[in-house]
Amino acid sequence: MQRRDFIKGTCRICLLGAATAALSNLAASCSPAVGKSAGDLKPVINDGKIEIPLSRFESSSIAIVSPANYNYEIAVLKTTDEKNKYRSLLLSCTHYENQLTITGNGYVCAAHGSRFDKEGNVLKGPAEHNLKTLKTEITNDSLIIYIS
Ligand code: FES
Repeated sequence: MQRRDFIKGTCRICLLGAATAALSNLAASCSPAVGKSAGDLKPVINDGKIEIPLSRFESSSIAIVSPANYNYEIAVLKTTDEKNKYRSLLLSCTHYENQLTITGNGYVCAAHGSRFDKEGNVLKGPAEHNLKTLKTEITNDSLIIYIS
């Protein structure tokens, strides 16, 4: 094989690899993932509950809620379950109640490394319990989340 042919062939392989990586990133950005967005909510707690508009879920099946003067964020997932259409997860680590950090596909605790999937299930300890699910209720056009 000539040196020129070798370089040409190698460049084609590199271009194919770069194109595959770019398509992979594009596909990942199209699937629903856990993450903050410009539409994140910061409601005020009133009588131990917060209210968020259901319209928030028209464009996304996940909302991150940061109640004012509250130590933890809440991940609200729109589910396919007819009985429980929304699931609210308290983003407090079940090991020692550290605030969790949102990753692309779940939550991680910076204190000791516990990991949870986006449904709140433990993936890696030392946490032994899944995330706490908060009671929710639908009224008119809003989702009520009970904080306490
Ligand atoms: S407080 Fe989260 S892993 Fe320990």
